[in-house]
Amino acid sequence: MQLSSEASQRFARISAHLHSPNLQKMEESSLLRRENCRAKGGAPGFKVAILGAAGGIGQPLAMLVKMNPLVSVLHLYDVVNSPGVAADVSHMDTGAVAEVLGIDPRDVDVPVVGGHSGVTILPLLSQVKPACTFTADEINYLTDRIQNGGTEVVEAKAGAGSATLSMAYGAAKFADACLRGLRGDAGIVECSFVASQVTELPFFASKVRLGRGGAEEVFPLGPLSEYERFGLEKAKKELVESIHKGISFIRK
Ligand SMILES: NC(=O)c1ccc[n+]([C@@H]2O[C@H](COP(=O)([O-])OP(=O)(O)OC[C@H]3O[C@@H](n4cnc5c(N)ncnc54)[C@H](O)[C@@H]3O)[C@@H](O)[C@H]2O)c1
Repeated sequence: MQLSSEASQRFARISAHLHSPNLQKMEESSLLRRENCRAKGGAPGFKVAILGAAGGIGQPLAMLVKMNPLVSVLHLYDVVNSPGVAADVSHMDTGAVAEVLGIDPRDVDVPVVGGHSGVTILPLLSQVKPACTFTADEINYLTDRIQNGGTEVVEAKAGAGSATLSMAYGAAKFADACLRGLRGDAGIVECSFVASQVTELPFFASKVRLGRGGAEEVFPLGPLSEYERFGLEKAKKELVESIHKGISFIRK
């Protein structure tokens, strides 16, 4: 059976991610060009280069330009520290999943529950919106990238710091959701780490409705795949210790 051209393109993108994460290799691939990989909306965007990207102006500029929907390829140049800054802005939001699917990151919603580091970060890929299915390899790849995003940035910065730009971007988005909730906007739902009865743990991050009263409703996890149920057990094992540590620190 002949694959449709859209299906072959998606397959090429996924193969590039699974087997050739290196940008250079991706650009060399005859099947895949970088500009096809970061599809932002229907039309391909512009390629923009920032010189001095690791500087005081360059870093926030890189983050702001990354947010521009007209830009589909961003190149960062500096004589020092550019790999770290590039890794940092690459970790803004849900890029990895959107790249694998080949759609605009703004159209992708990935619930990420549990905690904030390593195995406690549990992406629920079975609940991604728009609805889609992933192969076992894709699930392993994406889960690993999402769980170790922070470590990737720390390693790319090689001792010069941790994720700051992507963290600031995430915090700004979350603050915006809180403020819209406080203003009284309806239906503001974000994954948040709150006092919770969703699991047997006293605190847990899951989908929460934010409103005038703060965290107004904590939603259950919904149906999980077998892979996610296994991940949840691992996450809880580690989270329970962190929660105990946190509680005893506060009581001191
Ligand atoms: N006109 C204004 O109002 C105004 C205001 C602020 C800054 N500036 C100018 O903007 C520039 C950037 O300011 P900043 O605060 O980000 O400085 P900065 O020193 O923090 O950053 C400059 C960056 O450029 C990099 N760099 C140096 N030579 C390079 C080269 N050959 N190729 C690639 N990268 C190179 C450096 O490694 C550094 O990371 C400076 O020239 C500054 O004087 C102008």
